[in-house]
Amino acid sequence: MYQTIRDVDVKGKTILVRVDYNVPLDGDKITDDLRVRASLPTLEYLRAAGAEKIIVISHLGRPEGKDESLSLGIVAKALGKMLPDVAFVSEVDGKEVKEAVARLKNGGILMLENLRFYSGEKANSSDFIQSIIETTGAEIYVQDGFAVVHRAHASTDAVAKFLPVYMGLLLEKEITNLEKVANDPEKPVLLIIGGSKVEDKKPLIEKFMRSADRIVVGGKIAADGYEGKGNIYVAEDFDEDSAGAKLDVGPLSMAKIAGFITDAKTIIWNGLLGKAEDPAYATASTITAEMIGEKEDAETVICGGDTTGFVENLMKDHSNLKYSLVSTGGGAALELLAGKRLPGLEVIKKN
Ligand code: 3PG
Repeated sequence: MYQTIRDVDVKGKTILVRVDYNVPLDGDKITDDLRVRASLPTLEYLRAAGAEKIIVISHLGRPEGKDESLSLGIVAKALGKMLPDVAFVSEVDGKEVKEAVARLKNGGILMLENLRFYSGEKANSSDFIQSIIETTGAEIYVQDGFAVVHRAHASTDAVAKFLPVYMGLLLEKEITNLEKVANDPEKPVLLIIGGSKVEDKKPLIEKFMRSADRIVVGGKIAADGYEGKGNIYVAEDFDEDSAGAKLDVGPLSMAKIAGFITDAKTIIWNGLLGKAEDPAYATASTITAEMIGEKEDAETVICGGDTTGFVENLMKDHSNLKYSLVSTGGGAALELLAGKRLPGLEVIKKN
């Protein structure tokens, strides 16, 4: 069993927390803040449990060196609207960070700059993470960046050479729900796959061909002619535009998919069923999201950035929709569900 922040006394301590604030941006606007909101329970817990200083680290995007348009200052501002006492410094180590840490007290939060501005992060450099630890005086490390635990980077892997690593509450929630549906699901199990990148989904489909009762394939993958076999149902009719492009799953297929959803006790949904950013082609995805969210007798997991963003939007106007997990992980969720080992999990302290 992994140790979580509930297994360690954080009172009076300096805690370094790795989150995943790799949020989608439009200029300096965050277009989906799920990952920021999802990090609040851990930060609030640490404060309530008496942590003295909380240092938050993350990456944002895939910058080549320092790229101001990907500064975590943007996210620090958003976090500061959700929680009191949030400061930001545009470095990860050195004098400015040391002074900012010295000013923190009573659970004050300091966010450091984008880890990927420095080559040491992706290179899994011990020196890089050691320097952050020494500068901040961190005594305990909390891994709460579920969406990045499939990467072997300095803040997910090398860090464990220097500090004990505990799970944050978001990571715990993600792992508990995803491991349950992957390894010990209540049957019938339904996997719904959409989106456009078939390569990304192959390992998941292969894994679930063995354990799922039904796999549905929609979205561009189906429109492009995915070949189903065994327990795989590929959408067979589509709503088309005037040029004949297949842009949404059609009514005949949707009726079949609705039947599978009604029967299932475990549902995992990854990938939109049509070009849902255009309301004219969002019908199948909307029906799917509503039917899953209204189910009271099933374990339901939504994953993949486009799908979770779509579902979150719908939930704003439909408070009756509930899901067991709207996952913050993209690649990480896919890899975990496909049964791969995740480097960032391997280093977490065990009982
Ligand atoms: C994600 O958004 O999936 C994570 O933040 C990981 O980002 P990466 O694919 O750039 O490593």
